[in-house]
Amino acid sequence: MQDLLSSVIGFLFCLYHLKSFLDFIWFYFLRPTDGYKKYLTGTGPRSYALITGAMDGIGKALARELYDKGFSLIIHGRNEEKILSVVDELRDSSPSGGDVRYFVADANRHDVDFEGIAKRFEGLDITLMVNNVGGVRIRLERYILAPPPRTQLIPERFASV
Ligand SMILES: NC(=O)c1ccc[n+]([C@@H]2O[C@H](COP(=O)([O-])OP(=O)(O)OC[C@H]3O[C@@H](n4cnc5c(N)ncnc54)[C@H](OP(=O)(O)O)[C@@H]3O)[C@@H](O)[C@H]2O)c1
Repeated sequence: MQDLLSSVIGFLFCLYHLKSFLDFIWFYFLRPTDGYKKYLTGTGPRSYALITGAMDGIGKALARELYDKGFSLIIHGRNEEKILSVVDELRDSSPSGGDVRYFVADANRHDVDFEGIAKRFEGLDITLMVNNVGGVRIRLERYILAPPPRTQLIPERFASV
């Protein structure tokens, strides 16, 4: 009886680790990676992806990846000089020939003219948004003391990741 119990426990243990291993293989090697294609639906010449904090790290890497995949971009940063060099870098990095636009806004400030920014991108088909700055450290007390007005920057029909 004890042997049977040990065998069952051993079997379940192996099954658990086999599943973890197969999950790993699926996630990193077999999983389809063309999920982005459903957001390449722009009615104009291009679908736009809006990426905040695209000057460095994950945001910049995502911007480059999406640009290579055929999206046009609206990238965001807080330093115009740095943004312009990233815009040039992106345009030179890929033959996709997409449009690259940008806006400057410090996420720590609540006096940013979002209405004006939204106007600049009116009519563009923004189908994907990556709110990459969402997790960076911001000075919360500014928002608690003076919450910024909410602005509809992009159309209803978009994906936010
Ligand atoms: N890296 C990780 O392991 C990791 C893990 C989990 C989650 N995350 C999250 O993923 C996001 C990106 O991480 P990362 O490692 O790629 O960060 P990063 O290399 O520091 O890049 C952050 C980007 O956000 C911009 N940014 C920072 N504060 C800003 C502000 N107040 N206003 C406007 N732009 C601002 C930076 O612009 P400047 O160049 O001007 O500084 C930069 O372009 C963050 O939200 C982070 O919390 C990262």
